[in-house]
Amino acid sequence: MCSFLASNSLQMVLFKKATDLCNHLEIQRKQGKKYGLVPTMGALHKGHISLMNNSKQVDDLSVSSIFVNPTQFNDAADFEKYPVTMEKDIALLEAADCDVLFVPSIAEMYPRGTRMAYHYDLGYFETILEGQYRPGHFQGVCEAVHRLLEIVKPDNLYIGQKDYQQCMVIKKLIKLIGMEELINLYISPTVREAGGLAMSSRNMRLNENERIKARAVYLALQSIKDQIHKGELGTIKNKAVHGLIEKGFRVDYVEIADAADLQIIEKWDGKQKLVALAAVHLNQVRLIDNIFLNPVSEVSDVFKV
Ligand code: PAJ
Repeated sequence: MCSFLASNSLQMVLFKKATDLCNHLEIQRKQGKKYGLVPTMGALHKGHISLMNNSKQVDDLSVSSIFVNPTQFNDAADFEKYPVTMEKDIALLEAADCDVLFVPSIAEMYPRGTRMAYHYDLGYFETILEGQYRPGHFQGVCEAVHRLLEIVKPDNLYIGQKDYQQCMVIKKLIKLIGMEELINLYISPTVREAGGLAMSSRNMRLNENERIKARAVYLALQSIKDQIHKGELGTIKNKAVHGLIEKGFRVDYVEIADAADLQIIEKWDGKQKLVALAAVHLNQVRLIDNIFLNPVSEVSDVFKV
């Protein structure tokens, strides 16, 4: 266990061992404290910190984790290049008044090795969008989040809309592992740069020109929102795809889906709550983003668990 002195003189305690963290949390639990978990892979930005801020408003104790989870990377090069900025991350979490930080090694997270012992029945979610383009990715996400939930046993779990399909998957995971009575899931809106680019750890791998160019992803989603109408949606989607290809992106998908269950919508009845989602490659960097197509007030119940 190590501790770091925060500028406001509150201490954030850092654990590397699951048993030490469990013991610490057990003491807090006995004092009646409720706690929240913000799981991350580090290279933190304002999007991550917004999740921590939510936890600080709700919980007696806010826990975050930094673990670059090898089992969720379907592309070895992506794992190798994943940015690591531990000192800066610790400073950001301290400044956000995070109480406890868990930074496990791979062996600590996966004492029985990284070969997945368990298959999570994610059904449809693994066949579409990120599931289709990143085979095995969500199994790895579930493995890491499952382990973290077992170690931390949080009352509240904070995740970001930025990874919309991941939100659906984690919601399903919580049910699959029988923790839906124990955990409240909080989903925070996507934090964006001034030009609209969704903040992401992978943005660190973009140069200045690419960063400006990458705004086109959000603009493409916005233009879908501007054009959305009852009936066939194929033309709207195709226009967005072609616009991005012309700008030099390699497009994995641009889709419009039912915000509640991610069923792809080809023809809109004018009533379903919709989300537009995109995944593109800009040179070596893969970017994902999504926006709701209905007013926020109409979609606020989508994530209720
Ligand atoms: P990571 O990409 O580090 O993201 C950690 C959390 O921050 C996720 O819930 C993600 O949706 C949220 N987040 C990322 N960018 C955001 C933004 N711009 N605005 C708001 N929230 C944002 O997602 C993962 O790590 C991993 O898959 C993890 C859940 C930790 C499992 O390994």
